[in-house]
Amino acid sequence: MNGPFFTLGIETSCDETAVAVLRGQTEIVANTVYSQAKIHATYGGVVPEVASRDHLRKLPRRVKESLQTAGIGIKNLSLVAATYGPGLVWPLLVGLSHGKGIAFGLGMPYVGVNHLEGHIFAHRLSQPDVEPPFMALIVSGGHTSLVVVDEYCSYRLAGSTVDDAAGEALDKVGKMLDIDYPAGAELDRLAKKGDKKAIDFPRPMKDSPGFDFSFAGLKTSVLYYLKKHPGARRENVASSFLESVVDVLTIKSVEATRRYHMKRLVVAGGVAANSRLREVLPARADERGIEVHFPPGDLCTDNAAMIAAAGAYRYLRLGESHPLSLAPQPSLSF
Ligand code: KG4
Ligand code: ZN
Repeated sequence: MNGPFFTLGIETSCDETAVAVLRGQTEIVANTVYSQAKIHATYGGVVPEVASRDHLRKLPRRVKESLQTAGIGIKNLSLVAATYGPGLVWPLLVGLSHGKGIAFGLGMPYVGVNHLEGHIFAHRLSQPDVEPPFMALIVSGGHTSLVVVDEYCSYRLAGSTVDDAAGEALDKVGKMLDIDYPAGAELDRLAKKGDKKAIDFPRPMKDSPGFDFSFAGLKTSVLYYLKKHPGARRENVASSFLESVVDVLTIKSVEATRRYHMKRLVVAGGVAANSRLREVLPARADERGIEVHFPPGDLCTDNAAMIAAAGAYRYLRLGESHPLSLAPQPSLSF
């Protein structure tokens, strides 16, 4: 192979059309994320059919623009990596098929990437020198999991949510507070203006053995509170609710890191962008001699650079690639 190794990353598992170009294994040379949130806002949630049609409309142009930003032609690519699960089947199919088309047309290898593994690779992009083993807390709109990363691509699940993901609960409570979907970032801002001790919301599963989470009951507590106190200050509700989520995430992940004899905890996924979590978790982990690493906010939320990074690692380090028959897997886990 001549010249640098360029990977095209494609992410369309939900409502973001994301394309990136990676040089080598960790240098981001293009990374664009187009959010369809405004399109779905009128429906109050993501409509899969609408999402896939919009991906189809936007993706080819996004790929072209990313290559321009990277300053390369399509023939300079060495690998295509696209998310094949978990996510919404039609949106996944659009990105996967587009990636396959490029790989097949140019006769280059192709790797399907697990979106959750992608989130872990956001850490490798920001801190390639801080290597496994570590505990990873993946906390997003669809998942809340604690994963032992013995080495990249070798995982053991330590716990996960038994009902709602943390981000899902944040988005639903946001809706109760009249915040548009996805509510996490706005809830984060609102919470800063409130009193986190104003309301004593429960800390679900805080003292239960094991490392599973549950956020559905907490969300319902907020609903009942608002019904009982219609005049409650939104800022206080946001702040107290968020404090409960952050508290549970912190207690469970620090304890899991300790129990699995790890010295490092990596936090990834959209909720890892939360400012209160980024404040509380490192402070409490430090008391236990645990280092905490967060990727920058734009690599925590969905993006294609993390997908390219996981694909490049699998291909270059593990010699893996997929046949063009690879199908989307909406329920893929670790
Ligand atoms: O990882 P991600 O972009 O998509 C999934 O894979 O689900 O995560 C999206 C989630 C949403 O629930 C969104 O509300 C939440 O991340 N989020 C935040 C923040 N930014 C995004 N939650 C709390 N604080 C934030 N600053
Ligand atoms: Zn995600």
